[in-house]
Amino acid sequence: MSRPALARVHLDHIVHNFELAAALCPANGQALAVVKADAYGHGAVAVAQALAPVAPAFAVACIEEALALRAAGIQQPILLLEGFFTPDELPLIAEQGFWTAIHRPEQLAQIQAAKLSAPLTVWIKLDSGMHRLGLPLEQALPVIQQARSMAAIENVVVMTHFANADLEAPTGISPQAQIVRLMTALDGLEGQGKEGDIDLSLANSAALLAHPKARRQWQRPGIMLYGASPLECGNAESQQLRPAMTLETGIIATRWIEVGESVGYGSRFVAERPTRVGTAAIGYADGYPRQAREGTPVAVDGQRTRLIGRVSMDMITVDLTDLEAVEVGSRVELWGQQIDANEVAACCDTIAYHLFTGVTRRVPRRY
Ligand SMILES: Cc1ncc(COP(=O)(O)O)c(C=O)c1O
Repeated sequence: MSRPALARVHLDHIVHNFELAAALCPANGQALAVVKADAYGHGAVAVAQALAPVAPAFAVACIEEALALRAAGIQQPILLLEGFFTPDELPLIAEQGFWTAIHRPEQLAQIQAAKLSAPLTVWIKLDSGMHRLGLPLEQALPVIQQARSMAAIENVVVMTHFANADLEAPTGISPQAQIVRLMTALDGLEGQGKEGDIDLSLANSAALLAHPKARRQWQRPGIMLYGASPLECGNAESQQLRPAMTLETGIIATRWIEVGESVGYGSRFVAERPTRVGTAAIGYADGYPRQAREGTPVAVDGQRTRLIGRVSMDMITVDLTDLEAVEVGSRVELWGQQIDANEVAACCDTIAYHLFTGVTRRVPRRY
């Protein structure tokens, strides 16, 4: 016997979700699979190995994540979304066939100065309005032209990232406005018209699902591969996603409490009727958020019920009053196939990305 908390990872669902992403790409476009942050908590090696037969490339946040995939036998190009942090990474990037983002102009000179065993593919990241990472649009043409003229660079892709592709009616800059700014900046690129022959990469999951004009040569889906819709309001495409992680555990104790008795730290929950309390073996040290509000949904033996009382480090308490058949050993799903991770996230003032990446090492992943 062992502690029942575990994260089941449904690799077949991840492949299904990737195929959905690929089907949304235009005829001249493809999707790479974003597997940074340990594939959003699902296990980057296992996910990349499952996707290797269908994904033409992968994307991660840094060279360490890329090297872990190479060590596991992944042969596809792997894009470093934040580029290289220091120029000493460049020889390894060239040797390993990684693709690197460029987001500061001096990075071209660093590439020029590096001793590389092979020319690089660079993704020039442009800041079209999110103002987090990327070159200002005024620098787009000179930097692209310089990159294209360098012997150390054999291929150039232009990438930008949207601030609000998930929102129905953004109050901040819209993806449409970012696309217009980008295309205006690229206008005149070697006389090719707005897009010319340069490959573009605009869409994350939300844009791929909801903004057809963002679909270009390369899409960068992340969260949708893991089956959570990033869209504020779902659509026909997002409804086809299949949840890839089921976080589950078991009931380890039950008890009845009287009206007026409370449950857990801080006595946050006070019984208004005789209440059957189930204690489940999962807590904030496993990544189940301490912020979870009273009433956050859980499923016990397939039936929806609610969190009662505060989340502690290793345990939570749930309401079993109307679930007579539930006993010690009953299965508890925190999110996955019956409970939508987005619904739990909303009860914790966060997003599904944060829930998935927050599942700690203590929780075994079962594939
Ligand atoms: C540059 C870039 N592209 C793509 C993605 C994937 O985004 P999503 O998980 O929303 O699809 C991310 C994630 O943060 C990113 O930073």
